[in-house]
Amino acid sequence: MNGPVSIEVLRQHLIDPEICIRCNTCEETCPVDAITHDDNNYVVKADVCNGCMACVPPCPTGAIDNWRTVSKADAYPVDEQFTWDVLPEQNTMAVPAADEAPGDPAADASGVEVDTVRGSVVPPWSAAKPYVNLYTHKAPTTATVVGNYRLTDASTDSDIHHIVLDFGSMPFPVLEGQSIGILPPGASADGRTHHARQYSIASPRDGERPGYNNVSLTVKRVSQQHGDAIDGVCSNYLCDLKKGDVVNVIGPFGGTFLMPNHPNSHLLMICTGTGSAPMRAMTEYRRRRRLKGATGKLMLFFGARTKEELPYFGPLTNLPKDFIDTNLAFSRTPGQAKRYVQDAMRERAVDVAQLLKDDNTHIYVCGLKGMEEGVLQALREIGEQHRMDWDALWAKLKREGRLHLETY
Ligand code: A2P
Repeated sequence: MNGPVSIEVLRQHLIDPEICIRCNTCEETCPVDAITHDDNNYVVKADVCNGCMACVPPCPTGAIDNWRTVSKADAYPVDEQFTWDVLPEQNTMAVPAADEAPGDPAADASGVEVDTVRGSVVPPWSAAKPYVNLYTHKAPTTATVVGNYRLTDASTDSDIHHIVLDFGSMPFPVLEGQSIGILPPGASADGRTHHARQYSIASPRDGERPGYNNVSLTVKRVSQQHGDAIDGVCSNYLCDLKKGDVVNVIGPFGGTFLMPNHPNSHLLMICTGTGSAPMRAMTEYRRRRRLKGATGKLMLFFGARTKEELPYFGPLTNLPKDFIDTNLAFSRTPGQAKRYVQDAMRERAVDVAQLLKDDNTHIYVCGLKGMEEGVLQALREIGEQHRMDWDALWAKLKREGRLHLETY
């Protein structure tokens, strides 16, 4: 007589091709290289993914957070996932529920939990509630260009623009720290329409111009990649836009890189280049609402090659010193030693440590990928010099939605 058949069940991790904006964040984040892509889709290799969830919080759209219960033998292969336009329905006939729900931290071979997520996956407790995915690839909205200004000195190769988009009477509610997707016109060499590119919003929730339904973006023209001359499709499109041009927009995206709303909260902001966009949004929101008696502090570390390449240099340096404590770090000023944001943080260790000790402090890091490790290392050193247990503090900051990392 045959015994009962045992079916090995898998909670298969999948990416929703309808929502995914192909920004590559998940593939860059995955610690075990389980994510790959072709010209059509980003997909997850079922036999490699260990469900560690490291890719979930950085995904701007939430497309990454999809799961289907399948029998292991019937897991969707990557070749099939590459062809999808939509996710398959959950097959309710298939299998009993898997033991391990998505969201459980992965366990290594010894059963020890492995926490591969470095920043918070939750927003600050006092953050306002964001709207996300109001407009999608299939149903984008449009915005009109009402301003396009070069931010960096014309003498430098770094061409960074401040672009203002107006939504007219279409609802497009945003919060500081969120991003939007731009659909550039045209198609790639193989005839496929271009995917959306994601940009952080540089203006506060009440508009670039207060009371207007508009947002601003900080866009760097890409003309090189890894040393080769390559014109970035979307950045060149955006930097060349004229007033009155109409742009296809999707989003808004992002539900965790949000600012606290309680006025006594401190913002410790660390950025390079165009990573300054969300810091500008948060700073401007606070500037417009400076409350008498509020004790919240703003401390900014901002890195660029030179002063001429630092976006918003003029307005930033004009902000009152009792409003924001600004620390600039230039890496390529002729005649001066290379200086990164983490060097500037170490120089201000006493004040950074004071913020680290305060439960009202929220930390935001945005900019070059390479900076993330250096900044975390500097925070560890500063914490330990001032008799803090960094590992315990790091875990607490993450848990409490007070450490937000967005690097690319
Ligand atoms: P550099 O490129 O001179 O080494 P970008 O202009 O490419 O957006 O970079 C912004 C700034 O970030 C530059 O000053 C750049 O310095 C600096 N930078 C590069 N790598 C790191 C890193 N690992 N940590 C901190 N800053 C970095």
